[in-house]
Amino acid sequence: MAELLTGQVLSFAGDPFADGIGAARIEPEGAVLIEGGVIRAIGPAARLRADHPQVPVTSHGRNLISAGFIDAHVHYPQTAIIASWGKRLIDWLNLYTFPEEMRFADPAYATEIASRYFDLTLANGTTTVCSYCTIHPASVDAFFDQAQARGLRALAGKTCMDRDTAPEALRDTARSAHDDSARLIAKWHELDRLSYVITPRFSPTSTPEQLEALGALWAANPSCLMQTHLSEQTDEIAWVRSLYPTARDYLDTYERFGLVGPGAVFGHAIWLEDRERAKLLDMDCSLIHCPTSNTFIGSGLFDMGGLKAAGHRIGLATDTGGGSSFSMLRTMAAAYEVGQLKGRALHPAELWWLATQGSAQSLRMDDRIGNIAPGMEADLVVIDLASTPAIEQATRRAEDLWQALFPTIMLGDDRAIAATYVAGRQMPRAQ
Ligand code: GUN
Ligand code: ZN
Repeated sequence: MAELLTGQVLSFAGDPFADGIGAARIEPEGAVLIEGGVIRAIGPAARLRADHPQVPVTSHGRNLISAGFIDAHVHYPQTAIIASWGKRLIDWLNLYTFPEEMRFADPAYATEIASRYFDLTLANGTTTVCSYCTIHPASVDAFFDQAQARGLRALAGKTCMDRDTAPEALRDTARSAHDDSARLIAKWHELDRLSYVITPRFSPTSTPEQLEALGALWAANPSCLMQTHLSEQTDEIAWVRSLYPTARDYLDTYERFGLVGPGAVFGHAIWLEDRERAKLLDMDCSLIHCPTSNTFIGSGLFDMGGLKAAGHRIGLATDTGGGSSFSMLRTMAAAYEVGQLKGRALHPAELWWLATQGSAQSLRMDDRIGNIAPGMEADLVVIDLASTPAIEQATRRAEDLWQALFPTIMLGDDRAIAATYVAGRQMPRAQ
């Protein structure tokens, strides 16, 4: 069944960082034709209506129709510990994160949280996430079961930790991490819209043997992405140096085990050395900016301007629950604020691109999601540009779409999400 959605339609013909703001295309009285879960056409509403007179029309009025948000780095098991007070990374992991992740030994709890997590992300207009699970294979099953039931394109992997830096109840081994991950790849990878991601948590919680085993697993399964953390806090980097005394730098602890290459997705990447930057660029690795997390747990300021100018592949993410929000609007606002502190005011078109196309590129899925164009999957978000009195009054003097959109980026929350479509189906709001 085809459907024509009308509204202001935002799409991208290129990357506004590289190609200029004109790479963002706005169709003020636009329409999107969707059929069979896929976008068939985009253009002026009058033309699409005339071309497809039989197709039912859903009018979204003056609301903005965009590709759904893509959150390129999250920990769904940390849903219930979001906004935990007062700690920096290592203490935050030990005090809040690890005890919560232990609870995922219970598959029923994992299912409860996965379900709650997707209710929250969909309410915030996020249609794809790339998640860490816990060490428990059942936590991966719970995530993919819930994603599959909702028809979502989703990515995740079993978090691997075998070092005594992690609590015993959250440890696997080099062998079991490899074998459990391999079983989960066979079960879930490329089933429906799901993708498995090989997921060592980060080098401080893995032995060299485990990183080596996961490097071998990745070599055997090159269609999988590999995700981990890199250079988030200075204390963490010092810790890595003490655990891997012969490594040239943090990245080298991954590189020596075959974990640096196209399809590697590194969360945070704040405190990079020149050699690391050059290698990451050369290998076309993805860097994921998690601005609410970086400010919330006091990590540092990501160099968006410098890294984009150098040509790095960069996505945007909440990093739930180190990040302090499920909302990609709030995440764009934080990216703007971090940019200001680094002396580079990101344009609304750049912020929006990061939350859609940029994240899709970082997950190497930009041929399917993250934009509105014929042939792309119909994962869409519809934005109310006047969702609260504060936002409404701030947009009254707007002279173009960017001025009308920026107050929603800075002040908006789930009330701005008028509708979310997954594979062409409008998702019901969870109660
Ligand atoms: N580094 C290793 N594990 C984590 C995590 O769960 N959250 C964040 N923010 N950083 C990490
Ligand atoms: Zn993380």
